[in-house]
Amino acid sequence: MRRKLVIGNWKMNGSLAGNSVLLRGIVDGHAAGKADLAVCVPAPYLAQCQAELSGTPVAWGAQDVSAYAAGAYTGEMAASMLQEFGCRYVIVGHSERRAYHHESNELVAQKAHAALNAGLTPVVCVGETLEEREAGRTNVVVCAQLQAVLDVLENPALEKIVLAYEPVWAIGTGKTATPALAQEVHAALRKQVAVRSADAAAKVQILYGGSMKPDNAKDLMAQLDIDGGLIGGASLKAQDFLGIAKAAD
Ligand code: G3H
Repeated sequence: MRRKLVIGNWKMNGSLAGNSVLLRGIVDGHAAGKADLAVCVPAPYLAQCQAELSGTPVAWGAQDVSAYAAGAYTGEMAASMLQEFGCRYVIVGHSERRAYHHESNELVAQKAHAALNAGLTPVVCVGETLEEREAGRTNVVVCAQLQAVLDVLENPALEKIVLAYEPVWAIGTGKTATPALAQEVHAALRKQVAVRSADAAAKVQILYGGSMKPDNAKDLMAQLDIDGGLIGGASLKAQDFLGIAKAAD
């Protein structure tokens, strides 16, 4: 039985003062239930998360990581650095990075590999654009994104990743994939992992992301292969974020 996992992706939002209020709200309102909670914050706020979340049940992480271990890579952050700030998770391959920073499937796979080498859990995002969905290419696109990761990870590492299916057309648009439609893609992803390892397929948590809110989270998370959510907008208010976590119970 996989536990549910609800991760807030703050994207490029936050301030020291505002974060404190949000983190306190999440910690105070958190009730032990079926969902584990984490926040993935802008890198400058990782020290704040380490200070304010250590010793609480809420984990934290970053939104990107370098594929390289160290060296002359201006602006990059090594996985070992994230690890020093207590990160458990790091998002890799979010569609905003694929689109605005031209990240390829292969680079995303290298980032996942680098994260695992430093003991972090990569949250590997996959998802199709509206054009790709309308052209009937959803499975081809997400399976190619996943395959690049499968190609670089050995089986023991594969069991440790988290996957997130985020249809690009549902991100920040208020348009959520229907539970049935999301489940179909999640099942296809799990099946693809199973080709490599039945064990890994049974263990890997596959989160849904894309306009998940307290009022649609329950139906989505009730699906067989939906193991939680990667939440953007609704993770910026403690009440909404906790409402989604509660929907897992
Ligand atoms: O990483 C989170 C996703 O991009 C979802 O964002 O909940 O604002 O649609 P959203």
